[in-house]
Amino acid sequence: MKTQVGIIGAGPAGLSLALLLQRAGIDCIMLESRSREYVESRVRAGLLEQNTVDLFNELQVADRLHKEGLQHHGVYFNFDGESIRIPFDELTGGRCITIYGQQEVVKDLIKANSDRGVKIIFEATAAKIEDFETTAPKIYFKQNGEEHIVECDFVAGCDGYHGIARKALPAKCYNEFKKEYPFSWLGILANAAPSTDELIYAFHERGFALHSLRSEKVSRLYLQVDNDDTTDNWSDKKIWEELSIRLSSKGFMLHTGEIFEKAITPMRSFMIDNMQYGRLFLAGDAAHIVPPTGGKGLNLAVADIKWLSSAIIDFYNNNKEEKLKNYSADCLRRIWRAQDFSNFMTYLFHKQAAHDSFEYHLQKARFEYIQSSKAQATTIAENYVGLKDI
Ligand code: APR
Ligand code: PHB
Repeated sequence: MKTQVGIIGAGPAGLSLALLLQRAGIDCIMLESRSREYVESRVRAGLLEQNTVDLFNELQVADRLHKEGLQHHGVYFNFDGESIRIPFDELTGGRCITIYGQQEVVKDLIKANSDRGVKIIFEATAAKIEDFETTAPKIYFKQNGEEHIVECDFVAGCDGYHGIARKALPAKCYNEFKKEYPFSWLGILANAAPSTDELIYAFHERGFALHSLRSEKVSRLYLQVDNDDTTDNWSDKKIWEELSIRLSSKGFMLHTGEIFEKAITPMRSFMIDNMQYGRLFLAGDAAHIVPPTGGKGLNLAVADIKWLSSAIIDFYNNNKEEKLKNYSADCLRRIWRAQDFSNFMTYLFHKQAAHDSFEYHLQKARFEYIQSSKAQATTIAENYVGLKDI
């Protein structure tokens, strides 16, 4: 098979890249190891920054997002039962976030790709990338036990943290940074009307809790648990009791309901400081992971793709390689910023040490500073809705 851009992975990164290239008349083939049903039902976070929604609007893939997504103009931060609201409108000049599940984003992007004639090959696993230091790279992939080759001008490694693209980079061309946190998140989806109009991030002496939403009838909630914990230890009753304790604040009443999804996810920060080599370019989770406390994962993937698509388009349409050369450096500014913000949010809200410890008092001092300083609240708001210009 021959194409201009070979894309590995049909997650948010690969799918948005394909749409941007298709719009510019550039041919691509996308390989995805899982089935369409699997990728469309994989439950993940669901916070879209303004920048991400703007891009989906521009790509005309946002009709359902506007019907079903929930626009939020603020967020609640709780600390030891006290609640404050960070108003985005006032602090960021009218920017906001949209709550819309990642699997819904993926469904919309797959549909748009297939409606627009982009070739996505499902259940096709890329095994090897070769010759990416030349102008004729190749992706070897397997489907139904048979080996095939995609010959292309560029390879986009959008294959997530466990993919092959990062491993194909020569080890000497990047540094790796990794931080594993000593806690995980137990996440649930429940048929319960949200108990709040906007997200609640809560520090409690028993641990962090987050109340998010999916619709008028479905809530998404998370609890900090130990890394070795399992969902077997968490009956539905125990989950609701714990959420009710950790999220409590004046006037708050938790609505409960049937839990239909329950999973534990570890928390880590990870990145490499070079996302390209020759004609191989990495984007999204393939190059970086952030802990979910800032809601940045999907948005960073989409931000990478904006740079990558514009660099590839500039190459084909204007015969310019400058943006391709700068791709990694251009992405890394935002990635480091998001790493810092996600790490900050994680340490602000998670229980790390005993209740009267030094760490606890630092966390409390940070919360009180957000409460009393418009400058600090603005810093949080502009990072949370997503910085515009980096
Ligand atoms: N061959 C083909 N496809 C592969 C291979 C391979 N060897 N390895 C992985 N994949 C596929 C995975 O099955 C997955 O569908 O690549 C896709 C990568 O998608 P994501 O993991 O969703 O990564 P990305 O598109 O970068 O999106 C980042 O996803 O994990 C969340 O929080 C993260 O929201 C962020 C977003
Ligand atoms: C979610 O809705 O799943 C969500 C929202 C905000 C986060 C993490 C997850 O920080």
